[in-house]
Amino acid sequence: MSDLKKTTDWFAACKVEDAVHNGGVCIKYENSQIALFYFTRRNEWYATQNECPHRRQMALSRGMIGSAGEEPKIACPFHKKTFSLATGECLSGGECAIKTYPVKVENGLVYIGIKN
Ligand code: FES
Repeated sequence: MSDLKKTTDWFAACKVEDAVHNGGVCIKYENSQIALFYFTRRNEWYATQNECPHRRQMALSRGMIGSAGEEPKIACPFHKKTFSLATGECLSGGECAIKTYPVKVENGLVYIGIKN
């Protein structure tokens, strides 16, 4: 199915006040783990898969966020591979990208979008 035909289901992941500033939390959604990041310095939110594709560790929510130029990025705590928080692209020269999810904030709640 093309992206144009997909709909987005939004689920409430957490309260804004429960998010870690300049860091991530792991959100369980059905059988998946999603890493939710509150990039306070940039006033931006991002969500990605929690599993690092390098050695399949459920670890990205515990990684360190930062910027590569204008690109927001996450570094896996295990072997420091970095990924774009915006696109999921591997910034360490690897082939493996990570999945990203849209995030929105409404009425003090943080919502993550799942495309169906
Ligand atoms: S497991 Fe993430 S960089 Fe190796």
